[in-house]
Amino acid sequence: MAQGIRDDDGASNTSHNPSLTDLVEQAIAQNPKRRLLLKSGLGLAAIPFLGGLAACGGGDEVVTPAPVAPVVPPEQMLSFAGVDTSSGDAIVVPAGYVATAFVPWGTPINNAAPNWKVDATGGAADQEQQVGDNHDGMAFFGFNSGANGFGERSDEGLLVINHEYINPEYFYAPDSDTADWLAPFTYEKARKALAGHGITIVHTKRAADGSWEHVKSSLFNRRIHGNTPISIQGPAAGHALMQTAADPSGTVALGTLNNCGNGRTPWGTYLTCEENFNGYFGWNGERTPNALENRYGISASGFGYRWHTVDPRFDVNVTPNEPNRHGWIVEIDPFAPASQAVKRTALGRFKHENAELVIAPNGKAVVYMGCDERNEYIYKFVSTGTFDATNPTSAANRNLLADGTLYVARFDAGATAGDNMGSGVWIPLVYGQNGLTDANGFSSQGDVMIRARQAADRVGATMMDRPEWVAANPKKAGEVFITLTNNSRRGGTTSNNADGSTTAGSARPPVDEANPRANNVWGHIVRWNEAGGDGTALSFNWDIFVLAGQPSITDARKPSANATLDNLFNSPDGLAFDSFGRMWIQTDGNFSNAGDFAGNGNNQMLVADPETKEIRRFLVGPSGCEITGITWTPDRKTMFINVQHPGEVGSHPNKPAAYIDDNWLARNPTSFSQWPTSGQRPRSATVVVRRTDGGVIGT
Ligand code: FEO
Ligand code: CA
Ligand code: CA
Repeated sequence: MAQGIRDDDGASNTSHNPSLTDLVEQAIAQNPKRRLLLKSGLGLAAIPFLGGLAACGGGDEVVTPAPVAPVVPPEQMLSFAGVDTSSGDAIVVPAGYVATAFVPWGTPINNAAPNWKVDATGGAADQEQQVGDNHDGMAFFGFNSGANGFGERSDEGLLVINHEYINPEYFYAPDSDTADWLAPFTYEKARKALAGHGITIVHTKRAADGSWEHVKSSLFNRRIHGNTPISIQGPAAGHALMQTAADPSGTVALGTLNNCGNGRTPWGTYLTCEENFNGYFGWNGERTPNALENRYGISASGFGYRWHTVDPRFDVNVTPNEPNRHGWIVEIDPFAPASQAVKRTALGRFKHENAELVIAPNGKAVVYMGCDERNEYIYKFVSTGTFDATNPTSAANRNLLADGTLYVARFDAGATAGDNMGSGVWIPLVYGQNGLTDANGFSSQGDVMIRARQAADRVGATMMDRPEWVAANPKKAGEVFITLTNNSRRGGTTSNNADGSTTAGSARPPVDEANPRANNVWGHIVRWNEAGGDGTALSFNWDIFVLAGQPSITDARKPSANATLDNLFNSPDGLAFDSFGRMWIQTDGNFSNAGDFAGNGNNQMLVADPETKEIRRFLVGPSGCEITGITWTPDRKTMFINVQHPGEVGSHPNKPAAYIDDNWLARNPTSFSQWPTSGQRPRSATVVVRRTDGGVIGT
């Protein structure tokens, strides 16, 4: 349990918890006669207005019979009881909370869609009408009062869910080859996998008892998947590197893939972020990859999906530019079911984790983004146009991501070496500036966006320990946090070459102040504050918010003081603020519960106080999963999170004794995890988290 956590200065955290005196003074302010009661000698124990007043209607009417306005205690930052770690096949939440699985992989998206087959024999046409696999980033968009557009309702809305990838061992029923459950691999199987990716839009409604239902009759229910036509807009649209035989204009791509983290806009659209797109490509026959392909990790067999063996779109010997049409931020209007999604190329092409959008004081839309691979970079986009808050869904607002400037971050040590803080600058990735010139091989702004990693190499950006989610503090303008999940290739002597010739993830840079640990197995979170609290600023100050790890370690690998035995975790990944200002941290790390990871248990979700740095564990996931994706209803009485890839065996302590490999697991799919449905193969799913008393989550 997370009792007695101390912050970096060694002081107990009390800053967000109102003292008893505070509560008494607030109660007296509501009704000054209460001071008489206190003075009467009854004492605090006899006074029911601390906490219980709203429920009981006030107990001091004996003294003062006049109606009394209820005293609502101020919301607290961390007032839930932290939970212990677990290696069990179930979700753990604090006392007073309930967690319920919702819309797992295969759920029919509407009344016309076919049911999911428990033996995974469903085909591609089925999957195109069912919820996809590996739920990831997610956003809840409340309806307006007419239930026909974007609004602030908390009882009904659209839940938009990313589907990052598939787990072939659970996704496909075994075929005829006893040694290889995927063989023979067919075009139909590739099509089914493509349909398992992308996003799902689910119309959701809160029932009277607080539970949530999927409104299957709604026309808002929708799938966008790996074969859905998507518009390409912005500086790279139509570029020669974006053209294919199927799309000579270079303006309409098929599909969005590896939909990892997400973003949302104040004009009511959803941003899905294409991450490890390279893993779907490969080639048949011989090929010597060029520098662009190497820098984005295109390889002969990719991640083993085999699509390139049956679909020429994924064979780069046949369709060499197809990879360039992936790795973008995609904007989707969930309230317009007939609308086409848009790849926003002004935000650059890399392995996008999430997209955190804030409106700067001058009205510019600022989008923070990490590129998740070892020794990659942190970026931000600043729009050319300004947000019109008086008409949030205006056509101009809805086109703000079409045009702007992309920057990449450089983290410097600052005035003092070794103090885990420093300064930094944002370097524009603009054709013709900072060496992004024809002499160095850059031919246009579209070219710079397609080759954003190589442009960042050229301008000297700082290689980071796998940038994952970025989150901006809604209570402090210009304060932004990023998870740096881990980096097994930190601590060497090689860096990404300025000429863009490095193969993705192959460098082994030395430690630096923002990435201070060699072989960073636990990860850390970095915070920066934009100059003047302005998201459009070109400089910032930064510090390390937490270094995860084992508190017993005292050498160069030691964690920060706010990583304690009560909140052990590794590999922070998902990161988001609720509107009160709590920072929620989700992990995708080592769940062996042994060695460097002893006491960590399954992947989990924690809450941090951004001011005091206290971190407390809120939730633990089932066996083999990661926890990712988070969103709230506007009233914060419902929180949605995702359990991704439950049943991933890895080095889990409860791995079945008979386990051999994925071929074995495909034939014994219930042997390890049966989350969320007992007796069935494990399935990724959303989880609805509520308080049993209907209160606000986290308070
Ligand atoms: Fe899809 Fe970097 O997590
Ligand atoms: Ca420093
Ligand atoms: Ca992630």
